[in-house]
Amino acid sequence: MTDIYWDPYDTEIDDNPHPVWKRMRTEAPVYRNDRFDFWALSRFEDIEKASKDTATFSSTHGTVLEMMGPGMIGSNQMIFMDPPEHTMYRSLVSRAFTPRRMALLDDYVRDVCAELLDGLAGRSEFDYVQDFATQVPSMVISRLVGVPESEREEQRENIDTMFHIDPEQGMINDIAFMARIRVHEYLMDLVHRHREHPDVFGDDMIKVLLGAEVTGEDGELRSLNDDELVQFTLLLYVAGTETVMRLLGNAAVVLAQHPDQRAELVADPSLIPNAVEELLRYEAPSPVNGRWVLKDVELHGTKIPAGSKVLLLTGSAGRDADAFPDADAFDIHRDIKKHVTFGYGIHFCLGASLARTEGRIALEETLKRLPNWEIVDGKTVRQHTSTVRGYSEVGVRVP
Ligand code: HEM
Repeated sequence: MTDIYWDPYDTEIDDNPHPVWKRMRTEAPVYRNDRFDFWALSRFEDIEKASKDTATFSSTHGTVLEMMGPGMIGSNQMIFMDPPEHTMYRSLVSRAFTPRRMALLDDYVRDVCAELLDGLAGRSEFDYVQDFATQVPSMVISRLVGVPESEREEQRENIDTMFHIDPEQGMINDIAFMARIRVHEYLMDLVHRHREHPDVFGDDMIKVLLGAEVTGEDGELRSLNDDELVQFTLLLYVAGTETVMRLLGNAAVVLAQHPDQRAELVADPSLIPNAVEELLRYEAPSPVNGRWVLKDVELHGTKIPAGSKVLLLTGSAGRDADAFPDADAFDIHRDIKKHVTFGYGIHFCLGASLARTEGRIALEETLKRLPNWEIVDGKTVRQHTSTVRGYSEVGVRVP
């Protein structure tokens, strides 16, 4: 029996979960929470193995704790699929997510960052998350997906609201649900507009997906239907905005806490890509990823029965001393062979290279203009959810 307590809803724990994750890794690597009826794996090696073993650890019953359950099967989002369905959708969308298409976004990412930061020039205080970090990924993903600029901000707010957490009900609450419906309706309308007036839109993801074909159940090639298109777009939109925003918010806080390393990045921007990897390892923007156990499994002498919910704590894996020496130290020079912050195996983040690009360029443009900033006391606010982790506000003071 252990006296360790962790759940993803406890806001005090969420402020700094690392001490309890450390205890879980050493004392309770197969952690059981009766109150919310889940298990949790916290060691790097276990998370890596479980992520690869989709025949045991399935995504088909949801990956967000309060949304998981026996009846969750049938979502059209590939993040909630196992092979063979996942394989089919993933290969289709990977064709649309080519390195060439991603590279085309580089200049756009830089322009967006430069314009936003130049707009803040001369201000002695601003909110790095609200004024900058939330805007960058939303503008980039909108361009990629094909959301017109004039319609973007409303959808960004809706997507943010989809992550609204209720103290009693987690992310299953009316506010989040209504926001999801609004985004869904918006995207359905956008897909229809793309179908009806293709010339009005550019060479975006919806256009590519409209022209794509998958092999149907009867073995015949068919186009994607509207629901599949909306679900794809929704997944990209949500996964692409909420996570990158948190990476950038974490960067503002962690670099202010390590001014010497920040000065090194200012002096030598070629260190920035590795600093982004270290930031991802050190504070994972998406640290809790659920799986449904399809058959009994035994790990470290504990049996997890079929039909259980298991949370893979990728945020804890990043601090596992067996994988990363001196894991609690932030070190932009760390030699990072691999981390699991983007997941591992078949669900490895589809947007990882775009996220890395956004992280790198956002930091390059920030450090170019703002070599020093301080965090304003009392002006950091965490947005607590059971899946993504980070700040909704980070007040910074610029000398
Ligand atoms: C720092 C930024 C990001 C982080 C930390 C992150 C993290 C993750 C993680 C942990 C997973 C695996 C989930 C699981 O195994 O259940 C994932 C999957 C995914 N991510 Fe990301 N992500 C980021 C940015 C993005 C961006 C920018 C996009 C889109 C442009 C994106 C699109 C996706 C998609 C579509 C999947 C599902 C892949 C699949 O099921 O095969 N992500 N991401």
